[in-house]
Amino acid sequence: MPTNSCFIFFTIISFFVITSMVCRVRAVGVNWGTLASHPLPPPKVVSLLKSNNINKVKLIDADSNVLQALSGSNIGVTVGIPNSMLRGLNSSKKAADSWVHDNVTRYFLNGGSGVRIEYVAVGDEPFLQCYGEQFHPFVIGAVTNIHSALARAKLDSKVKVVVPFSFDNFQSESNLPSKAYFRPDLNKTMIELLSFLNKHESPFFVSISPFLEHLQNKNISLDFALFKETAHIRNDNHRAYKNSFDLSYDTVVTALSGAGFPNMDVIMAKIGWPTDGAVNATSYLAETFMKGLMNHLHSNLGTPLKPRHPLTETYLFSLLDEDQRSIASGNYERHWGIFTFDGQAKYQVDLGQGPSKSLVNAQNVEYLSSKWCVVNNNEIMP
Ligand SMILES: *[C@@H]1O[C@H](CO)[C@@H](O)[C@H](O)[C@H]1NC(C)=O
Ligand SMILES: *[C@@H]1O[C@H](CO)[C@@H](O)[C@H](O)[C@H]1NC(C)=O
Ligand SMILES: *[C@@H]1O[C@H](CO)[C@@H](O)[C@H](O)[C@H]1NC(C)=O
Ligand SMILES: *[C@@H]1O[C@H](CO)[C@@H](O)[C@H](O)[C@H]1NC(C)=O
Ligand SMILES: *[C@@H]1O[C@H](CO)[C@@H](O)[C@H](O)[C@H]1NC(C)=O
Repeated sequence: MPTNSCFIFFTIISFFVITSMVCRVRAVGVNWGTLASHPLPPPKVVSLLKSNNINKVKLIDADSNVLQALSGSNIGVTVGIPNSMLRGLNSSKKAADSWVHDNVTRYFLNGGSGVRIEYVAVGDEPFLQCYGEQFHPFVIGAVTNIHSALARAKLDSKVKVVVPFSFDNFQSESNLPSKAYFRPDLNKTMIELLSFLNKHESPFFVSISPFLEHLQNKNISLDFALFKETAHIRNDNHRAYKNSFDLSYDTVVTALSGAGFPNMDVIMAKIGWPTDGAVNATSYLAETFMKGLMNHLHSNLGTPLKPRHPLTETYLFSLLDEDQRSIASGNYERHWGIFTFDGQAKYQVDLGQGPSKSLVNAQNVEYLSSKWCVVNNNEIMP
């Protein structure tokens, strides 16, 4: 009965297409940083994530209190290796083995109550231009050693090694996506690194920032950065760009294609809008940006270069304000949070809790600052 089996086949295919679309739409995560003088206790942050239906989180390190709090939560986790550890991890397989043992295996294999670690991010944007070449020589070695350590722990099929790239790793003539390529000083490293990542089915983690593009490039208007329908369209050959996100995304795709990897999965590792510390950094504009971004992700439209290719995973920057981040590039660095340092929503956006529901704030936050003052002061005992 060919018609019938055809129908069944079609039904099965549509089921997979629909479920995979649903899964992809749901994959919105957040960056959870802890550079705060009064960090919210990790169990409170995990409650905050769960009550807002956020099911993926990216960390900059592998803090044991944070990983313990994430145990049993079923939240997908990216753990990070700081740039300062890359040298040691390049030169020593043993160091890589202990890093993986202490920071992945120990939590991962903790029965049903373990941490669902999905990625190990090697370095924190190690190719950022302002670092010069200090980390370049160690990245490939560290990536290789961490991957081998995961393989020895039999975790390499579940936990993927990634490297977070920053947007200044790319260049393009007149800012046109079709003319994009990797920064020439990275050229040699990139081919080797991308081959390795591709061979092991790792996605490409990259940060893009329409906010910074708007701040630094007068061709990127505020409306264009904010996904406004009224924004002036930018043309690149026969492709029409309606927003800064697509322009940046296709810049990344073109550079990857030029290097020979046109089909690598691209994951937005950091994207957000600060609420203070610069002109046009306000809660109102951050809300407009986030809502525009969410609509874009949910539309499944893809970008001009990859139409109808759903944007797989996106990690918003950031969950909470961090008042100890470096302000070398601007005061806005301490105001990226969707929530304040103590977990109160600064504006409204649907992170997964549902379009008609408000964000849920952190509950029963204890403010310990006065107690700490007493403890720190030798003369006054509590
Ligand atoms: C990276 O590690 C390898 C293997 O131990 C070593 O030969 C190489 O010199 C290291 N690279 C640097 C720049 O130290
Ligand atoms: C595990 O990660 C923590 C936090 O990033 C780090 O301090 C520690 O050195 C790591 N363990 C090993 C064995 O490298
Ligand atoms: C701005 O746009 C113009 C016209 O398209 C272009 O010639 C110029 O290079 C662009 N400048 C930057 C910094 O993107
Ligand atoms: C802020 O946005 C306004 C309104 O579009 C714009 O005119 C102005 O140039 C922006 N300021 C900066 C510093 O980018
Ligand atoms: C390296 O540079 C050459 C020439 O500029 C270019 O064709 C090639 O695509 C570049 N490789 C990467 C990985 O960008």
